[in-house]
Amino acid sequence: MLTFENVSFSYRPDHTVLNQVTFDLPAGSCTLLAGRNGSGKSTVVQLSNGLLRPTFGEIRLRSKATSAMAMHEIVRDVAVMLQHPGDQITERTVGREIKVGLDALGLDRTEARITAALQLVDLTHRASDHPYDLEPSQRKLVTLAATVAMQTSVVMLDEPLVGLGPAEIRIVERVVQRMRQEGRVVLFVAHDILQTWHLADRVIVLHQGRVTLDRTMTGGLTPSAVFDAGGLPPPASVRAAASLATLTS
Ligand SMILES: Nc1ncnc2c1ncn2[C@@H]1O[C@H](COP(=O)(O)OP(=O)(O)OP(=O)(O)O)[C@@H](O)[C@H]1O
Ligand SMILES: [Mg+2]
Repeated sequence: MLTFENVSFSYRPDHTVLNQVTFDLPAGSCTLLAGRNGSGKSTVVQLSNGLLRPTFGEIRLRSKATSAMAMHEIVRDVAVMLQHPGDQITERTVGREIKVGLDALGLDRTEARITAALQLVDLTHRASDHPYDLEPSQRKLVTLAATVAMQTSVVMLDEPLVGLGPAEIRIVERVVQRMRQEGRVVLFVAHDILQTWHLADRVIVLHQGRVTLDRTMTGGLTPSAVFDAGGLPPPASVRAAASLATLTS
């Protein structure tokens, strides 16, 4: 559905952020994109919907090169929730924040779609409020609702769980599961790998500009393999389990 082929990207000539990155997000897949801070996860997300364009290489959507497509064509298929809600929110009410995306895509039944999207994140009662009158975590849910409401076949969520409380985390999990059931292609970025492990059916890891792991969850993939591939320090719980295994073996 969405393919990166040998995609390289630099913000500055002296620093290559992505170096010949290749992966394919198949129909119906739900992918965890992991990697250290600064490994290029958000860059991948922004390349996917045309906010950024590759320095080299090709991104294909439904087998068509996106270099030949304007951003308004790409976003019909790829919706993105940015890492920081402040980079995404432009409107003066929560309802309008959902509406602006629907209008951009020319979708009908706008009011019903806004209500449905806000129901998904339990925020229908805040539709008329200014986004900045909401808690930061609720603003994140507004950007999630706006992204999901666009009904695109590909949805990319950049750190959707950061800053959320337990009840809000359950809401995001519910939304992701629902998108999976609908057969949408989902990719989410998460630095807490253990917390999000159960949500994904495949994992891609970025390290030093390259894809160092790209595997489905079947076949015994472990979080430790992901930590290793990403040069990530395993959390204390994983270290403790490993040393227990050594003691008992
Ligand atoms: N607008 C920008 N201009 C210049 N450099 C940038 C810009 N955005 C990101 N970078 C740099 O590109 C690299 C990759 O950044 P990116 O935000 O994609 O990483 P990330 O994996 O999402 O990190 P994090 O886990 O901190 O969110 C980093 O070195 C970052 O400093
Ligand atoms: Mg990021």
